[in-house]
Amino acid sequence: MSKDSSPESWKMEPHTAAKHEILRHYLGAWFPILSKWNGRVLYIDGFAGRGRYDDGSEGSPQIALRRLLTHSYLPQMSNCEFVFFFIEKDNENVAALEVELDALKAEFPNWPANIKTRIINGSFDEKMNELFEQVREQNRQLAPTFAFIDPFGYTKFPMDLLAEIANTPKSELFINFMVGFVQRFIARDKQQTPMRELYGMEVADVLKDYDPTSNRIEHLTEVYAQSLRGRTKLPYIQRFSMVNKTGNVSYALIHATASELGVKRMKAAMWSVDPGGNYRFSDRTHGEAVLFEPTPDLTPLRAAVVEKFAGARGVTRDKVDWFVILETSYRETHVIATLTELEKMGKITVFRPPGKRGFSPTVTFDF
Ligand SMILES: C[S@@+](CC[C@H](N)C(=O)[O-])C[C@H]1O[C@@H](n2cnc3c(N)ncnc32)[C@H](O)[C@@H]1O
Repeated sequence: MSKDSSPESWKMEPHTAAKHEILRHYLGAWFPILSKWNGRVLYIDGFAGRGRYDDGSEGSPQIALRRLLTHSYLPQMSNCEFVFFFIEKDNENVAALEVELDALKAEFPNWPANIKTRIINGSFDEKMNELFEQVREQNRQLAPTFAFIDPFGYTKFPMDLLAEIANTPKSELFINFMVGFVQRFIARDKQQTPMRELYGMEVADVLKDYDPTSNRIEHLTEVYAQSLRGRTKLPYIQRFSMVNKTGNVSYALIHATASELGVKRMKAAMWSVDPGGNYRFSDRTHGEAVLFEPTPDLTPLRAAVVEKFAGARGVTRDKVDWFVILETSYRETHVIATLTELEKMGKITVFRPPGKRGFSPTVTFDF
């Protein structure tokens, strides 16, 4: 979609389709996991849009709702109340979204009573502050929240607000960080205040350690991720960049969570999506960018595993899986190929109980 929010500009672009696919994939896991332990969960789409693109594709609100409504696990989730808030500032977009949600409700005549939706016309920051005000007055807490923050630019989702959302136990943030705009405007005079709000720190501090010979987009994304980690106290901040053929990054998707399972599921979502065209996703969370490809280069992963487990004995596949998920850019699905190669190279000694093959759970290995 282009930056202009007029109806004729709602073009479906490759990165929008990829973002939607990731959201759909991840929510397929998030709904059942969260509803298992909570009587109520909150899904907030902070920049909800108008609900439909020029090519007929649905917007993020229907993607989230449809994922839940068609979930094979829906009957088992009936004890949980799902509350969807769709916040949108533009009046015309709100009107269009209302029509779309009515159509969706008509499509599902047996709409479950535990799925509630509310379209809120206003600015994300103001409406969220009002919500927190009410919650504080009533001495309550928000339900565990998934907040999807998908703006056109970099304003109206200040770091303070994100920290407050993250304060609610089990809450997560999924941010479309438009780093291209940040890079273009950060040094401009009148942008000091919005940039300070965005980062939760002075612009001078954002740029302080920037080495002019290095990649500025990379620096701006990394500082944002670090600030998010510091301010929200969410330990797992994954940042996935959309890179074109020349290595330029148009934007970064940032996922912030306290859940290890959440990291695992988000990585599964990210690795499974092909943004198409000339684009690729890469994970830049752990230093060197790793490109998401059907057959990625596993050399850095082998090196990371050998370094991590050097001298360790009786290691199991599960241990390696979680190291790979939480401390590298790769997925658990890359572990078997890595261990197989390490065994061939003589870097690990494998102990297989009789009748066991490969790297099943009872197999152990020494480094
Ligand atoms: C990138 S679009 C959202 C697309 C939508 N999430 C989707 O995937 O279908 C950004 C939307 O945010 C709206 N918007 C702009 N400023 C806003 C604000 N301060 N608060 C809430 N919505 C805002 C715009 O009108 C636009 O509809």
